[in-house]
Amino acid sequence: MTLAGTPISTARAEFPAPCPAESDTNSSLQRRAWDAALSADVLAASRRDAAVYLRQAVSTPCLGALAGASGSYLIAVDGTRYLDFHGNSAHQIGYGHPRLRAALAEQLATLPFVPRRYTSGISVEWAEELLALAPAGLDRVLMTTGGSDAVEVALKLARAATGRHKTLSFWDSFHGAGFGAASVGGEQLFRNGPIGPLLSGTEHVPPLGCHRAVLGPSHRADQPHHPECGVALAALIDYTLRVQGDVAALIAEPMRATPAMAAPGFWQAVRRSCDDTGTLLIFDEIPTALGRTGRFFASEHEGVAPDLLVVGKGLGGGAIPVAAVLARHELDVGADWAFGHYTHEKNPLMARAALTTLQIIADEQLVVRSDELGEYALAQLRSLAASAHCLGDTRGRGLALGVDIVEDSANPNSPGDPHRAERIMYECLRRGLSFKLTMGITATLTPALTISRRELDEGLGIFADAVAATR
Ligand SMILES: Cc1ncc(COP(=O)(O)O)c(C=O)c1O
Ligand SMILES: [Zn+2]
Repeated sequence: MTLAGTPISTARAEFPAPCPAESDTNSSLQRRAWDAALSADVLAASRRDAAVYLRQAVSTPCLGALAGASGSYLIAVDGTRYLDFHGNSAHQIGYGHPRLRAALAEQLATLPFVPRRYTSGISVEWAEELLALAPAGLDRVLMTTGGSDAVEVALKLARAATGRHKTLSFWDSFHGAGFGAASVGGEQLFRNGPIGPLLSGTEHVPPLGCHRAVLGPSHRADQPHHPECGVALAALIDYTLRVQGDVAALIAEPMRATPAMAAPGFWQAVRRSCDDTGTLLIFDEIPTALGRTGRFFASEHEGVAPDLLVVGKGLGGGAIPVAAVLARHELDVGADWAFGHYTHEKNPLMARAALTTLQIIADEQLVVRSDELGEYALAQLRSLAASAHCLGDTRGRGLALGVDIVEDSANPNSPGDPHRAERIMYECLRRGLSFKLTMGITATLTPALTISRRELDEGLGIFADAVAATR
C-alpha cells in the first residue's frame, strides 16, 4: 500500500498480540454479540463514529453512543440509561452538576479564554485552592489539558531538577499516552507493538500489591498482611536506585486505581530510598485524587508526601479537561526554559471548572461520603463473593472498588477467568450498569461520589444478578 508514493508497512503480524490491559477489549466475541443486539439508533451512531475516528484498542469502535449524562447515569441515544460505575474516574461530582453548569455558563459569558502570557483572577484562585489542600510542601502548580501532559511536565521537571534522566516505575502501571508517559508506563498494550522505540533509561520493577504478588507473600485483600508483605519489592527498589545511583524520579500511583494497594510501610520505605539516593518521588493521582479513595489524596492513606504530584480527570467536574502537576518550590527550576507552555495553561474555563469542583467536593462532603459508601459497598461485594465461586479477591478504598473474576474462588491462587469476566460485564450492560474490566479479569467499579444509596444498591444488585446469570 502507498500513500502519495510513500510505502506503508501493513505487516502487522510482526507484532505479538496485545495483552489484556487497562480496559476490556473492543474486538472480542462477547463484544460482537453485544454489537449485534444494539438498537438501530445506537448502531448507526457508532458506525458513523467509526467511519471518522482513528481505530484503537479499548475505545473505537465504541460500545455505544450517548445523548445525555446526568448525575450517576449515562443516557444512550435510544434512551437506555446506564448507571456509570466507570466514568473514566472523571465524575466525582456526577454529571451535569447544576452548580458547575451555572459557574461555567457565567465564566463563558465573562472571560472564556486567557492567551498565554496573561493571567486572570480565576486562573490563580483555583490554583491557590488546590495547593491549600495539597500534601505538605507542594506549593507550585502548572495546569494542562490532560493527565498525560501533566506527567510529561513532571518528568521534565525531575530531569531538570536532578540533572539525571532515568526513571523507575512499575510494570502493569499506566501513566498516559505521551511518549514519556508510555515509557514509564508498564502495560504492554501501550508500550509494545508499532509505536516503539520508547524513551531510554525507563527502568521498571514488578507491580505493587499483595494479591498475586510477584515478589514475597501473596494474599487476598480480606486476609491480614504478612510481616514480609511488600518487603522484597521495597528492597528491590532500594537496590535498583542505589546500584544505578542516577535515577531522576520514581513515578507511581500510590494506590493503583484498578485498585491495588501497597503493603503497610511500603511507601515509607520507598520514600527513604528515594531520599537516600537523591531520587524524586512523583505520585500519579490522576484517577485516585479528589476523594475517590475516601481521602482527598490517595497518598494520605500512606502518610507519605511526594516531591511532585499529578492530578487530573475529576478535576474538571466530569465536563472540562483539566489536569495539573504540583511541585515543591525547590523544583521550580524552569527559569528561562520552557517545560510546558500550553495554549490552555491558564484557561479560565478550566480553572473555573476545577475551582467549582473543589468547592462542591468540600461543600457536599464527598470525601467522607466516598469513605462511608465505599465501606458499605465493599461489605456488600464481599458477601456476594463469599457465595459465588467465580468471584475472587474483592478489594477497595472509598469508591474505588475491584472484584477479580476467577475460575475457582476456593483456590486463593486461582487463575482469572477473562471469558466469564466479559460475560458478566455485558450482562451488566444489558441490565443498565456500565463499568470497565482491568487486565481482563478485574471488575473495576468507580461510581460518582455523589451517588445515592439507592443508586449504589441498584448497581450492586445488577452486578449480583449478572454474576448469577453466568453461573
Ligand atoms: C494513573 C493514570 N495516569 C495518567 C493517565 C492519563 O490521563 P489522561 O487520559 O487525562 O491523559 C491516566 C488515565 O487513565 C491514569 O489512570
Ligand atoms: Zn499484604
